[in-house]
Amino acid sequence: MKFPGLIDAHVHLRTPGGEHKEDFRTGSAAALAGGFTVLLAMPNTQPPLVSSKEWTIAQTRANQESLCDIFLFAGASEIFIHELPELAKKAHGLKVYLNDTYGPLRVAGIEPFRKIVQAWPAGKPIAVHAEGETAAEAIAAAGQYGRHIHICHVSRKEEIELIADAKARGLKVTCEVTPHHLFLNEADADRLGPLGDMRPQLASQSDVDTLWQHINSTIDMIASDHAPHTLEEKGVIVDKPMEGYTSTRTAPPPGVPGLESTLPLLLTAAAEGRLTYERIQTLLVTNPRKIYNLPSQPDTWVEVDEKASYAFPDHPLYTKCGWSPFEGRRMTGRVRKVIYKGKTVYQDGKILSL
Ligand code: NCD
Ligand code: ZN
Ligand code: ZN
Ligand code: ZN
Repeated sequence: MKFPGLIDAHVHLRTPGGEHKEDFRTGSAAALAGGFTVLLAMPNTQPPLVSSKEWTIAQTRANQESLCDIFLFAGASEIFIHELPELAKKAHGLKVYLNDTYGPLRVAGIEPFRKIVQAWPAGKPIAVHAEGETAAEAIAAAGQYGRHIHICHVSRKEEIELIADAKARGLKVTCEVTPHHLFLNEADADRLGPLGDMRPQLASQSDVDTLWQHINSTIDMIASDHAPHTLEEKGVIVDKPMEGYTSTRTAPPPGVPGLESTLPLLLTAAAEGRLTYERIQTLLVTNPRKIYNLPSQPDTWVEVDEKASYAFPDHPLYTKCGWSPFEGRRMTGRVRKVIYKGKTVYQDGKILSL
């Protein structure tokens, strides 16, 4: 079975400043292994991509270093609000963080958020990290200022129902859901410890069930929120502190990798009849392309064996962090081959363009 090159509209590639977790090369290799040929990467880097200068430096590196197409989000920060008109000419979307999560970007308060929304042109989406109350505030701003608000990684019943209601009222609101919020729940969080900790946190099975009820309607896209951190940072490999040494270890950073497990999980759900292959294409290609106005890719496609059954992963992972919360899970369906702009770049576990 074939798909066009898949689009993951929410990944963290950690360049600049976090290259020990991931970089454009390893992140894009993980993308190809997972069937993705287009990535939209988040601006919560060090430094964050909140000025035209930093954004352009990072986008130039992405173009030079990666094995697939990468488009960087612009980041919003109240003190760099004057940069937004220039950033809007270059980036496909703006990212605003309205809750605490990993990274230096957080817009605290509804007033600064509203100023940012007004400073960004109406034609391009504003993607928000917004949970619960802040999601409601973001939706209100979409209505008030006539902006397109995209809600990232929706995880709870209240949120998806709020978004369904906003859409029914004709607001320009779209949303994405991650595979971890569709395939894992609170019990998995207990089992996985830090390797099952991310923002938003894993929810109850009833939240998971409600998300699935909206898979063919309210949910516009699936995005991995690929958020690699090393096992050491997650506290799983713990070096014994030396005698007399006080540990300065901080809480493990939230986030889990997802580029290589997203398609296998969705193919597995399709094999089980929980969603169609056609819907996978809408969620991973058609809708993200439309929402972020992304160019099409000539001579680019993915070949999958939708019947292959195996324990994930069936070959060493390409993400630099080297682990997955889905390790050991039975999957039905794997990527066999990726053709990117006319060239075979991935085949049966091997990246050929590295
Ligand atoms: C993300 C990260 O590590 O950059 N972490 C996460 O838990 N999702 C940040 C984010 O997407 O909120
Ligand atoms: Zn086939
Ligand atoms: Zn987030
Ligand atoms: Zn994220």
